[in-house]
Amino acid sequence: SPLNRSSSYDPSFINKMKNSGRNVVVFYGSQTGTGEEFAGRLAKDCAGYGMKGMVADPEECEMEDLSRLSEIEKGLAIFCMATYGEGDPTDNAQEFYEWLQTGDVELAGVKYAVFGLGNKTYEHYNAMGKYVDKRLEELGAERVFELGMGDDDGNIEEDFVTWREKFWPAVCEQFGVEPTGDQFNIRQYNLTVHDDLSQEKVFKGEIARLRSFENQRPPYDAKNPYLAPVKVNRELHKAGDRSCMHIEFDISGSKIRYEAGDHVAIFPKNDTAVVEKIGKRLGVDLDTVITLTNVDDEASKKHPFPNPCSYRTALLHYLDITSTPRTHIMRELAEYARDKDKEFLLKMCSPTPEGKSLYNEWIVKSHRTILHILEDLPTLEPPIDHVCELLPRLQARYYSISSSPKKDPTSIHITAVLVKYDTKTGRTIKGVTTNWLADMKPGADSTHRVPIYVRKSQFRLPFKSGLPVIMIGPGTGLAPFRGFLQERHFLKTEGKPVGDTILYFGCRKKAEDYIYEDELRGYVENETLTKLHVAFSRDQDSKVYVQHLLSENKEETWKLLEAGAHLYVCGDARNMARDVHETLLTILQECGQLDSIRAADYIKKLQNKGRYSCDVWS
Ligand code: FAD
Ligand code: 2AM
Repeated sequence: SPLNRSSSYDPSFINKMKNSGRNVVVFYGSQTGTGEEFAGRLAKDCAGYGMKGMVADPEECEMEDLSRLSEIEKGLAIFCMATYGEGDPTDNAQEFYEWLQTGDVELAGVKYAVFGLGNKTYEHYNAMGKYVDKRLEELGAERVFELGMGDDDGNIEEDFVTWREKFWPAVCEQFGVEPTGDQFNIRQYNLTVHDDLSQEKVFKGEIARLRSFENQRPPYDAKNPYLAPVKVNRELHKAGDRSCMHIEFDISGSKIRYEAGDHVAIFPKNDTAVVEKIGKRLGVDLDTVITLTNVDDEASKKHPFPNPCSYRTALLHYLDITSTPRTHIMRELAEYARDKDKEFLLKMCSPTPEGKSLYNEWIVKSHRTILHILEDLPTLEPPIDHVCELLPRLQARYYSISSSPKKDPTSIHITAVLVKYDTKTGRTIKGVTTNWLADMKPGADSTHRVPIYVRKSQFRLPFKSGLPVIMIGPGTGLAPFRGFLQERHFLKTEGKPVGDTILYFGCRKKAEDYIYEDELRGYVENETLTKLHVAFSRDQDSKVYVQHLLSENKEETWKLLEAGAHLYVCGDARNMARDVHETLLTILQECGQLDSIRAADYIKKLQNKGRYSCDVWS
């Protein structure tokens, strides 16, 4: 593939380490890029201790080779493992996870450390990091430093930096190495500027294959998304100042298949105005076509993003220019600032309590993006190619599909809330994907197409349609249940047995954000929905939420669960999913006469049987 794979690709990472004189390998399990980024930073750190590191994707390695790591002098394996969804491994760590579980490997003499990336709003906090850390030890490997855990709901950058500060001294002690002091501003990529490259050879936003947008070929996946036309884009809110979009993508002729409950991933494009401002502030011609080539030809990533491309393409399609830069970026930027600005940046990246709190205040809490930093520090003049090297990759966003292929196999619907908020510095931040989607006009030219692919999920209606279902989805949490309702309705018209179908929906005000109200009423009328419970939280003085209504109907809920009902929760992971979970425990205790341990056990059993599924995000 043109992206990122050098010709010397060899699945044996041990051979690769030996051939290139490396002793540290940093594996990552990453879904949104943070794990990969942390891995890169740890690999880069090695140089500061006279060691040589490399980053490796477990999906592209023979992980059995891990047992040979002891053949390498001062060999060390570091794992940056993210937990995804319901305590699951990330896609690229799936096979590694399965292999670890089989357990027929002997890892004596292998030294390792694990940093886990997780989110405390989810039930299975850092499950993957914990598992890898424990399992490697069980298989005989030797932990050189305690498991680190980052919480993406708090300040994961600080968690990582704090762990790393203690991790390296532990490595020094055990491996007999010392800091050499020369670790900053080592450029990872060489810049080539192209003067007269034919336009056909230049990437324009493709994810992997050159010209794949002009020359589309199934199957479509994360490396080869389908450029879907937008069929419908309409507002779902009836009033109020927020916006929720109903969007339909046309997938006819694409051979894309999906099922109700799946997710669709969308590759967004950054705001043109922001990109132009960055170009202007750095004084560069954004049409300049460049290639950034890894100085290390053994590296698995030859280019940081598809190259060659123009700076404009890089900033529009490939780089994350709207999240808050992490401390290592600030540290490298500091070299390009003068006087007070430089001092300020250096202070912010220092591993002192003052440094950390300054970074937290000035960057994280104020949500300063790369553009805001450039605007607020006038002496900061980094070369744009170095900025492009440092910024993380722009990531695809997931949406719960809100349609069923049984109703219409040629379209995929989503239900998305427009993200827009003001920061402490008086600036407005616009969510990349939702604001880009908001401007999509059905039937317009090819610029109004959206790169998508379908990601299969475990969120499924019961195989036996006769079983009852209880669906709990306030706000955009309604999305997958709209698909489920279309599906149940279809089965009914086919004459199939369809069990009780109960929906709990919640929103702020009946007259504002009661989305799909007419459709839901229609499903009540045609008896697809047995019961529709709606909690309006702001139509009266005290809050009414879905779990309050669930509580009111506790006897019915208990009876349905005993009759084999499947229970689904979708939407906000931060508070709603947890509160619903608590309410369920209470219902089981009250109606099932179970003590708290038995109630928790009852829920575990439901989960294990696939009868209690969550599709939640924060
Ligand atoms: P971004 O540019 O990514 O900005 C969003 C970020 O801004 C947030 O992560 C947060 O850090 C920050 N932020 C947002 N509001 C504030 C605020 N008030 N103050 C400070 N910071 C803030 N979304 C839907 O609308 N519908 C769905 O059906 C849906 N399904 C999902 C399913 C899954 C499995 C997952 C993981 C997510 C789902 N999401 C869904 C969320 C969706 O993927 C995006 O995260 C969301 O649309 C925002 O994307 P964006 O690019 O517009 O915003
Ligand atoms: P609120 O914003 O008025 O607090 C969709 O976002 C709906 O979910 C809104 O009505 C919102 O109410 C509600 N909501 C907020 N927190 C919740 C929680 N912890 N549990 C259930 N619903 C919640």
